[in-house]
Amino acid sequence: MSHAKIVKMTEDHLDMEALREAGRILRNGGLVAFPTETVYGLGGNALDPEASKKIYAAKGRPSDNPLIVHIAEFDALFPLVTEVPDAALKLAAAYWPGPLTMIFHKSDIVPLETTGGLDTVAVRFPDNEIAREMIRQGGGYVAAPSANTSGRPSPTLASHVDEDLGDHIDMILDGGQVNIGLESTIVDFTEDVPVILRPGFLNEDMLKEVLGEVRVDPGIMSENVHVRPKAPGMRYKHYAPKADLAIVEGEPAKVFAKIRELTAQRLKEGSKVGIICTEESRKEYPEGDVRCIGSRADDRTIAHHLYEILRDFDEDGVDFIYTESFETPRMGMAIMNRLIKAAGHEVIEA
Ligand code: TXA
Ligand code: MG
Repeated sequence: MSHAKIVKMTEDHLDMEALREAGRILRNGGLVAFPTETVYGLGGNALDPEASKKIYAAKGRPSDNPLIVHIAEFDALFPLVTEVPDAALKLAAAYWPGPLTMIFHKSDIVPLETTGGLDTVAVRFPDNEIAREMIRQGGGYVAAPSANTSGRPSPTLASHVDEDLGDHIDMILDGGQVNIGLESTIVDFTEDVPVILRPGFLNEDMLKEVLGEVRVDPGIMSENVHVRPKAPGMRYKHYAPKADLAIVEGEPAKVFAKIRELTAQRLKEGSKVGIICTEESRKEYPEGDVRCIGSRADDRTIAHHLYEILRDFDEDGVDFIYTESFETPRMGMAIMNRLIKAAGHEVIEA
């Protein structure tokens, strides 16, 4: 039994008593985990340096990895930053509230403890009514990283949060399974041209539609470990499952054959093997612990289940995981960015 109080609610039926209690905890410097449309967050008062220190301690996160400040009304943005470029206003009008984080030069009210020592601040206006009401009750500014232990997959269910952090925090707001399942798209507005620092549900095309020009940080998809991503959190080995995970790439028929061959070999050695397939390829794999991640016809289903499957494999104690590659048009960049890191860059050509 963990220590945290877990309260279930839905966006349509908010438990106001629990949300007021969450607000009190936040205003007193404590931590509350809460659902957003992307993943669960671990919240503390963003303007309180001691609360930010507690967040780093609970997650076991390096303190130079900055937190995202969550707001519950658009106008709450302005006190946090020195200026908001027109391009950012346009992007906010198109996609806020939503799975978008924007980076600006910070004002003096944002403590350096929250920004990992940087003079810039990441701001997000989430599209989840439980999150927004909790933020309002908590004073309007909630610093929140994903609510996982540093190095584990981000939580998409309240039970994931409880597993990782239940002994370190006071309260978990359980809003059920999150919508998207991958963290927000991060766009940096502190340079001449907006730069995508982390891909997410909002892809490059959707940003270009509004902004015209946008760059992708060369660090995020690079196989070359010497190209450093600008977002500090993108530099760490992240989302790592306990098993040895490898991505098998190539022509579909060759990929299926290669995964069957690797699986047979590992099973013969006495290892436990997990396979990540899609609805389209389920029938290709006769043995191993086969998990269907979603359908290639709608890659949002793949994003939605990725972290949950990685956690399930941890629970089952598999030794090796083989996965197909998901270079899909809609969310492929976001999915592969996470998967490549989870695999520690281990890619097998079929
Ligand atoms: O969807 C999300 O964004 C979730 C939910 C809870 O809102 N939050 C989340 O937070 O993913 P976290 O801490 O796991 O990831 C934040 C990322 C890290 O990679 C961090 O380095 C980057 O944002 N970041 C934050 N502030 C930054 C800044 N000022 N400059 C560059 N990168 C920044
Ligand atoms: Mg995270």
